[in-house]
Amino acid sequence: MDKFIVIGGIPLKGEISVRAAKNALLPCLAASLLTSEKIIFERTSLLVDIFSMISLLEHLGVKIEGKVGESITLKADEVSSLVAPYDLVRKMRASVLVLGPLLARFKKAKVSLPGGCAIGARPVDQHIKGLKALGAEIDYEEGYIVAKCDELKGGDIFFDKVTVGGTQNILMASVLAKGRTTIANAAREPEVVDLGNLLKKMGAKIEGLGTDRIVVEGVDELKGGVHNPIPDRIECGTFLAAAAATKGKIKVKDCNPIHLEAFLMKLEEMGYEVVSNENSIFLNGEKEVNSVDITTSPYPGFPTDLQAQFVALLTQAVGTATVREEIFETRFMHIPELQRLGADIKLEGNAAVVKGKTSLKGAPVMASDLRASASLVIAGLVAKGKTIINRIYHLDRGYEKFEERLQSLGARIERIK
Ligand code: UD1
Repeated sequence: MDKFIVIGGIPLKGEISVRAAKNALLPCLAASLLTSEKIIFERTSLLVDIFSMISLLEHLGVKIEGKVGESITLKADEVSSLVAPYDLVRKMRASVLVLGPLLARFKKAKVSLPGGCAIGARPVDQHIKGLKALGAEIDYEEGYIVAKCDELKGGDIFFDKVTVGGTQNILMASVLAKGRTTIANAAREPEVVDLGNLLKKMGAKIEGLGTDRIVVEGVDELKGGVHNPIPDRIECGTFLAAAAATKGKIKVKDCNPIHLEAFLMKLEEMGYEVVSNENSIFLNGEKEVNSVDITTSPYPGFPTDLQAQFVALLTQAVGTATVREEIFETRFMHIPELQRLGADIKLEGNAAVVKGKTSLKGAPVMASDLRASASLVIAGLVAKGKTIINRIYHLDRGYEKFEERLQSLGARIERIK
């Protein structure tokens, strides 16, 4: 298993570009199942999660040309299986996103239940509730969701909880359903909007993207399209947090600052100098800064996917901060590892109380999930001496060539095979 060796204490400096958003690409790739025509992605990112989705789509019979990391073309004109097997789904929960499109186009689908993961139980009850509202019959057999219908019909759906994947699955199911679908309490995340924009290019009729009420008028069929996914706001935020924590100075390019407003405003509240332009963000982290409290919430609130990285940053701010995690139950696996590096953090239910400023010292630590890994890298970049981060395969799921790109900003980080 690969690990990182990080020698901390060097401020990050320079310029870095953001890649295509993993969480936008995943549903958009699944949307290729909705048409027999070609869908071209002008750019993709070289991530394990993207390979996982590609493997699943290939298993279903989708033809894929091009290289992951560059432009790729998908064509689902000869879908040969309607089953998403356990072995492929367990690797990545987002595999459940093939359920909506398969059911909409082929009236049948069998998708393994994703099960739990390190950050909580993560049920799919809202996806199922939505599909049932569109007329699907759902059974469970040996760990699989078995869905069928004569045809999907438009319906009214109210999500009991804001769900990104649920909204995306129902959006993909409803575009080919007969009649009008209303999704209330819909997720407003940019990744939902990006999927909606691709579906619109394919001929779908959708209104209200980016609001909590999406209305879809079903069409008989969809055509192909060309798509350039949005930049990865979480990757962008991770680089900014790393630069801020190391008292560096960086410019992140090819990003969309509007997608990161809550995060950027917190950085400014702390006292960082942040200058945003249309598609770049400059951050100067040289000054001493103060702590701020954060609470994660659905977009446009503070993203849960940046909570772990922000906790690492807060260890370097003066004062006490309370970090509340409101989206996932057990998303504090990074805390005991940060404590090993000397962080002063106490867990109180779904809140972490971070006291700063602490002087971190290198130690061996263990990555537990994707964003927790990024948090440990940030702490390692700050800590005096050597930090060894084990199990970085989590990190490769969502950050492309992370160590090489950090090296380009001056970081001393190395991958050991
Ligand atoms: C997506 C992101 C993930 C991010 C999360 C929240 C992808 C591939 N992943 O995950 O990085 O952390 O949004 O921003 O885009 N829930 C239910 N029932 C459901 C569905 C969800 O109770 O049917 C709960 C979840 O357990 C969680 C909350 O709702 O507590 C939000 O989950 P959701 O927005 O669905 O997350 P994902 O789409 O899985």
